[in-house]
Parts: sequence; structure tokens; C-alpha cells
Amino acid sequence: MDSFTGKLAVVTGGGSGMGRELVWQLAAQGCSVAACDWHADAVTETAAMARAGAPPDVRVTSHACDVSDEAQVLRFRDELLEAHASDHVDLVFSNAGIGGGGSFVKDGQEDWERVFAVDWWGVYYCARAFLPLLIASGDGVLVNTSSVNGLWASLGAGAPNTAYSTAKFAVRGFSEALIEDLRANAPGVRVAVVMPGHVGTDIVANSIRAHGLPEPEQMSDAQVEELIPRNAQAELTRAGALPEGASADDLRQLLVQGNADFRDKAPLSAAAAATIILDGVQSGAWRILVGEDAKMIDAAVRAKPEAAYDYAELFGELAEEWPQETLSSSVGMRRLDHRLAVPLIDQHAAAAAGQLGERAVQARVDQPLGGLHRAAPGGVRIVVPDSEQRPAERFPMIHRHDKQGVVA
Ligand SMILES: NC(=O)c1ccc[n+]([C@@H]2O[C@H](COP(=O)([O-])OP(=O)(O)OC[C@H]3O[C@@H](n4cnc5c(N)ncnc54)[C@H](O)[C@@H]3O)[C@@H](O)[C@H]2O)c1
Repeated sequence: MDSFTGKLAVVTGGGSGMGRELVWQLAAQGCSVAACDWHADAVTETAAMARAGAPPDVRVTSHACDVSDEAQVLRFRDELLEAHASDHVDLVFSNAGIGGGGSFVKDGQEDWERVFAVDWWGVYYCARAFLPLLIASGDGVLVNTSSVNGLWASLGAGAPNTAYSTAKFAVRGFSEALIEDLRANAPGVRVAVVMPGHVGTDIVANSIRAHGLPEPEQMSDAQVEELIPRNAQAELTRAGALPEGASADDLRQLLVQGNADFRDKAPLSAAAAATIILDGVQSGAWRILVGEDAKMIDAAVRAKPEAAYDYAELFGELAEEWPQETLSSSVGMRRLDHRLAVPLIDQHAAAAAGQLGERAVQARVDQPLGGLHRAAPGGVRIVVPDSEQRPAERFPMIHRHDKQGVVA
């Protein structure tokens, strides 16, 4: 696809984060967009801002739709075809997603299934609903958002991520399986799977809302205690992230700070991530890794599949390879998620520090970072190196883009 100009794109989860940025960037490049979100106001706002930055002939529409409900997806499809007076769509970005359902053992079935329904069934229903319209385009692209948790099913020591990883593995498997199916049966359509690492968005706060919880400031003591259970509090206190005998207000503050840090201290902004995704789609890539941390995890897991869940072994060698780097955040930052027991400390960083010693890991005790990083024992963080500092041949990913915006 040479250009997005004059095309019609569908974006799910357009009310925030990468979805919102995709809408803005597509519209600015002359692409009409039908965006949906289950937060109608948020996606209405996205569309208004997209129109303001788009050429006059571009049409941007917003639609209320919960992608985990097939009937709503079909209604969204019908609405957008009418609104855009079209009989086809050229691009579908199945981007909507939430976190949560971390533990299969301890979390409730309802929470687990909610995450799976949005992150897997949402992608599946959109593929079912929109594939005929992509075929009708003659040059259609289905872009499914998975995650690094589609290739690595954990967030590190003590932080299971079962519902999300299961769904994201399914998205990746489905997308890869479609490659041959489309080639054989719908050659005018191709598929791309997007695997972001840590991208600065409000997904933590949005996921808490998606599980029916109020904003942290409005949470009852019981709710906040459930979200950050006693054992996690003890760990956080040991790590210096919470005072001794932390009150419910301290816990609320930690949640607020955790979301802000996830968004503001990410190695990659949502805008930069959207640019990487669009460049990847335009280049014809089917596998789009977003961010250096995603590339690092992909490389590590492929190099040592047996060590995928032995974190010191998995990341240790990589840390050895780049001993001088500033330390990373990404895996640890991704762990602040609904019912992750909020182990804000990057435990695998700590483990790696213990096992690799000074050479591989720098202690950054004075680093004036947010609560998450200050929480790390000894101020330790593991590095995600900049692309420029790494020989590209070490990372023979199909992803061909290294454009990366760094959040200041
Ligand atoms: N931010 C990250 O670090 C990261 C990393 C890997 C993968 N991802 C994935 O990228 C995608 C975008 O995430 P983001 O970080 O921009 O999150 P975000 O929370 O900023 O945006 C997601 C949007 O999807 C919407 N949404 C959620 N469930 C929905 C549903 N059932 N129906 C319709 N809309 C729904 C939300 O309201 C929100 O506007 C998700 O699939 C997420 O899992 C994010």
C-alpha cells in the first residue's frame, strides 16, 4: 500500500492511546476513518480532533461499540458503511484492548473472561465482520494488535498475566494462520500483527475502569486493599514504595502515580507507536514489533525459548551484552495492571542485578523517576538499549522500522 490517502480505515479502541493516535495520523494523511470505542464520548473527541487536522475531503466518524459483543460490531459495520457511503473498507485496525485477569488461580472468572472477551473475541468478531469488506477493497489490510505478551506469557517474576497473554497469543496465532489462508483464498487482503512493548498510554487506568472499579481516588478502602493485597503491600513497603503501615490513601496515591508513570515514563509515546504501526503497514510487514523493548523480548525468547520464564537467564545475557546502558523500565512498568497484585518493583531486574552483578546492571539510586522506579531495590532498572546502539543484524526481525519517539 503506497499511501493511505483516499482510503477508508476502521479503528477500534479509538478513544485513547494508540487507537486515538492511529485515527489522527491516518486522517492527517488523507485517510477517512470510522473509529469506535465503548466510551462514546472519548471517540467523539478523537474524531473531532482528527477532522481538525485532516484535509477537507477526509471523513472521520465515531461510533459507540463494544467489540466483545458481536451484535454491536455488526451494527458498527453497518453504521460506518452508511456514514461513509461505502461498500468496502481498506484497512481494519483491531486495536481495542484491556488488561487484567492476571492470575488464573486467584482472580475471579468474570474478570478473566472479560479480558479474554475484549482482547480475543473482539479481534475475532471484527475479522469476521470486516473480512468481506476488505476483500471488496481489492487491496485490504487487517491489522491485529497483539502484544509482547503474544510471544512471552508473563510480566516477570511474581506477575502472572494469564488472561491477557492467552488472548494476545490467540491474536498472534490467528493472524499468522491467516497469512496462508488469505494468500490462498483472499489474495487481495493481507494481515499484519502488531506487538507493542511498553507504550505510554492510559491503559492501566482504562483497564481498572473496564473492570467496573471507580477512579483510585474514589475507591473504597476495601477495593483498594483488594487491588493491592497485603502481601504486595509488604513487598512495596520493603522496597520503599510505601511507608510502614501504609494507609488506604497511600495505596490510592500509589495507583494514581502508577498510571501516570506507565503513561509518562514509557520508552515510547502512543504517537510514536502509531507511526511505527502505520509505517509497518505501509511497508508490507506482517510482523510489527513496536519499541526496543518488544524487539529485545522477541530476540531473547527466540534465542532461548527454554529460558523464557527463567528471567535472570532470559534477560541476563542481554544485560551482559549492553553493560553500559541506562537501565530499563519496560517489563516492570507493564506490570502495574488490574489485579496484578501491583508488584511495582521490577523483580526480574532485581533478580538480574543480584545474579549479574555490577557489570551488567547499574544502580541508579538517585534517579529521580516516578514511584515505580524508585520502588526498585537499590534503584535498579534493566536497560532497553536504543536502536542506534545495537547492531541491527542481531535482531533479524521482519519489522523494518526503527523510527522511535522517546518520551522526554
Ligand atoms: N500500552 C501498552 O504498553 C501496550 C503494550 C502491548 C499491547 N498493547 C495493546 O495495544 C492496544 C491499545 O492499547 P493502549 O495502550 O492504547 O490502551 P488505551 O487504554 O489507551 O486504549 C484502548 C482503547 O480501547 C478501548 N476499549 C477497551 N475495550 C473496548 C471494547 N470492548 N470495545 C471498544 N473499545 C474498547 C478503551 O476504551 C480505550 O479507548 C490494546 O490492544 C493493548 O492490549 C498495549
